[in-house]
Amino acid sequence: MALPNGIQSTSELLDAQALVWNHIYNFINSMSLKCAIQLGIPDIIHSHGTPMNLLDLTNALSINKAKSPCVDRLMRILVHSKLFIKEEKGYWLTPASRLLLRNDPFSLAPYALFALDPILTDPCHHLSEWFQNDDPTPFMTTHGTTCWEHTRQNPGMNHIFNEAMASDARLVASLVIKHCKQVFEGLHSMVDVGGGTGTMAKIIGDAFPDMKCIVFELPNVVAGLEGTNNLTFVVGDMFLSIPPADAILMKWILHDWSDDECVEILKKCKEAIPNKDKGGKVIIIDMVVDNYKLKEEQHSATETQLSLDLLMMTLTSGRERSEKDWANLFCIAGFTSYKITPVLGLKSLIEVLP
Ligand SMILES: C[S@@+](CC[C@H](N)C(=O)[O-])C[C@H]1O[C@@H](n2cnc3c(N)ncnc32)[C@H](O)[C@@H]1O
Repeated sequence: MALPNGIQSTSELLDAQALVWNHIYNFINSMSLKCAIQLGIPDIIHSHGTPMNLLDLTNALSINKAKSPCVDRLMRILVHSKLFIKEEKGYWLTPASRLLLRNDPFSLAPYALFALDPILTDPCHHLSEWFQNDDPTPFMTTHGTTCWEHTRQNPGMNHIFNEAMASDARLVASLVIKHCKQVFEGLHSMVDVGGGTGTMAKIIGDAFPDMKCIVFELPNVVAGLEGTNNLTFVVGDMFLSIPPADAILMKWILHDWSDDECVEILKKCKEAIPNKDKGGKVIIIDMVVDNYKLKEEQHSATETQLSLDLLMMTLTSGRERSEKDWANLFCIAGFTSYKITPVLGLKSLIEVLP
């Protein structure tokens, strides 16, 4: 039989098939990771203290013992994904699975369980339908509402969402304090707009006890939360007005919104801060996508950024932005300069001056 059009050889045909299959089954990696967290595999191996053999691991798992032979197969793909290593004496943690330990301060387990919840993954099945209908997002096509309204109406999802954000905030805040502390020096007050349950503001507030920190959030996120000496929670809507402060912090906010909405938010920020001479600034923590330069060594980081961009398209009206996109927004919103500090892995810290 002839090869398909444009394919020159059998090896090219098989490579093409392998690539397509790899993409078809990428979701198995995500779901194996989710299963490992739900079964508590990283914690069980960690508590064991030394590499754990398959029998001990299987016995320690809370599973139907008839399924025991399948644990080996689950571990095989997790080892292949570099989430665990298999040594002579058994399975052990890698730096990645250390980030999945439930009680690790930097645990990404809450984030992983949130991101892989069907509420978020189901809309991905409706992408093509959304391209053809009039809905603002695939999330709306799937759930009939916005993601903000959905979390407002579902206390369980609200909780999972807030925990996921807090887990990311713990890691990012510690890096910010370690590598970008000078950004906050000299500030007397800061509003963390959309600051979730206050994890980031609390860590920054603890590092700068003389700075007054406000977490400005939707009511369902901060209901019942109590502040500290220098941290208060204020309920409001950033599209209406933002409390005045020397600096506005927005971590993972603007990527949720369209360009027009970002300009609206940025203008409200500008109204809330003093002018440049008096030290006013907006501090943004978000991705700066590398203009889709697919350098080989950055292939997987770029893939994650592009995936998050598609996720933003699926869940919200937002997007991940290149430096040029950001510069354009800052200019339209009336800011005069910006500085990008790319020390947060996939995310960057951007200081924007009025
Ligand atoms: C992606 S989360 C980021 C949370 C937090 N900044 C972090 O990175 O950990 C976006 C936050 O924006 C908040 N938000 C959404 N719409 C808002 C509005 N109109 N005014 C204030 N906050 C809003 C949400 O409740 C949510 O907590």
